[in-house]
Amino acid sequence: MELLVLVSLCLLTFTGKTFGDNSDQTPITIKEDESVILPCFFNTSFTDYRFDWKNDGKDVFLYENVKVDPSIPDEQFRGRVSHFPDEVKSGNASITITQAKVSDSGNYTCLNIDSKKEKKIKLTVGAFAKPVVSVPQHNGDWALLRCKVLNAFPKPAVVWNDSKQNNVSDREPEVREKGGRYNITLETNVTKTDNYTCVATQNELNHQSNDSTSVNIRGKFNQVLFLVFNYCLFF
Ligand SMILES: *[C@@H]1O[C@H](CO)[C@@H](O)[C@H](O)[C@H]1NC(C)=O
Ligand SMILES: *[C@@H]1O[C@H](CO)[C@@H](O)[C@H](O)[C@H]1NC(C)=O
Ligand SMILES: *[C@@H]1O[C@H](CO)[C@@H](O)[C@H](O)[C@H]1NC(C)=O
Ligand SMILES: *[C@@H]1O[C@H](CO)[C@@H](O)[C@H](O)[C@H]1NC(C)=O
Ligand SMILES: *[C@@H]1O[C@H](CO)[C@@H](O)[C@H](O)[C@H]1NC(C)=O
Ligand SMILES: *[C@@H]1O[C@H](CO)[C@@H](O)[C@H](O)[C@H]1NC(C)=O
Ligand SMILES: *[C@@H]1O[C@H](CO)[C@@H](O)[C@H](O)[C@H]1NC(C)=O
Ligand SMILES: *[C@@H]1O[C@H](CO)[C@@H](O)[C@H](O)[C@H]1NC(C)=O
Ligand SMILES: *[C@@H]1O[C@H](CO)[C@@H](O)[C@H](O)[C@H]1NC(C)=O
Repeated sequence: MELLVLVSLCLLTFTGKTFGDNSDQTPITIKEDESVILPCFFNTSFTDYRFDWKNDGKDVFLYENVKVDPSIPDEQFRGRVSHFPDEVKSGNASITITQAKVSDSGNYTCLNIDSKKEKKIKLTVGAFAKPVVSVPQHNGDWALLRCKVLNAFPKPAVVWNDSKQNNVSDREPEVREKGGRYNITLETNVTKTDNYTCVATQNELNHQSNDSTSVNIRGKFNQVLFLVFNYCLFF
């Protein structure tokens, strides 16, 4: 008896591993509000087979007894998920998600309930980063530059570069995350007259965006000249 349990345990572990190994597919990346097809195909020809989609434990879609159960999906997915009725009989269990949200990002599994086979696919729904720069403080010797990137996903890399593409950051960015969105503020203190560009990069989305500001640092010597000049003008 004990041996039997042990053997079944081993079998379970073994088959569990096999599913994971041969089912990983290329990750999909899209922009928010777009529609996406999550592909899933089983080499089965039954007309009445059943399949189940889940996203990190949340119910996404259930196809059972040749119909869709609309009460199954989690609130998050309700009314946004559909399958391909004409293709089901040829083993196609793909689904479409419309108006994708950043929170739809994650690992999806497509389970063929009868054969217990599953496919996994990773979805990333991105929100483009858009930097906005300002100069909150400056005087004749230095200027404090601020770059803000709001509500971006995945987390963008943010840098301050001068016009010769040198990194002029002198401190770490302040990063806030909530509901899968990132707000990043990167400040830097500069002491040279130049045009400075804040660049936000999201490699996963193949997206880069920037905003620039020109800074005029007069410097102490120039300030003295300026004062002397004004003094002379005055008299
Ligand atoms: C699909 O199943 C058929 C019949 O079982 C088999 O001949 C064929 O090789 C399978 N194709 C794939 C890609 O597994
Ligand atoms: C499954 O159906 C979708 C929608 O028609 C199609 O884009 C996809 O290529 C099909 N997959 C296979 C493996 O036939
Ligand atoms: C998705 O799966 C990958 C590995 O397969 C893992 O590194 C990642 O953390 C998972 N993501 C989530 C949101 O669970
Ligand atoms: C910004 O500066 C870094 C470091 O000098 C450089 O690697 C990068 O290419 C620059 N980025 C842009 C967009 O010019
Ligand atoms: C830019 O410089 C800052 C401060 O030295 C550093 O923390 C950051 O990693 C650098 N960024 C890049 C993209 O080189
Ligand atoms: C990011 O900034 C926006 C606009 O100011 C705000 O509504 C949101 O709550 C912020 N998110 C985080 C994670 O701080
Ligand atoms: C900027 O740097 C200058 C000199 O390096 C320093 O005196 C000034 O306090 C700094 N300003 C800020 C806002 O950090
Ligand atoms: C900064 O950019 C302006 C145009 O946008 C240009 O006229 C000026 O020469 C630039 N300054 C420097 C220091 O590159
Ligand atoms: C900033 O973006 C514009 C296009 O939006 C691009 O032409 C320019 O080269 C970018 N500048 C930097 C420094 O990345």
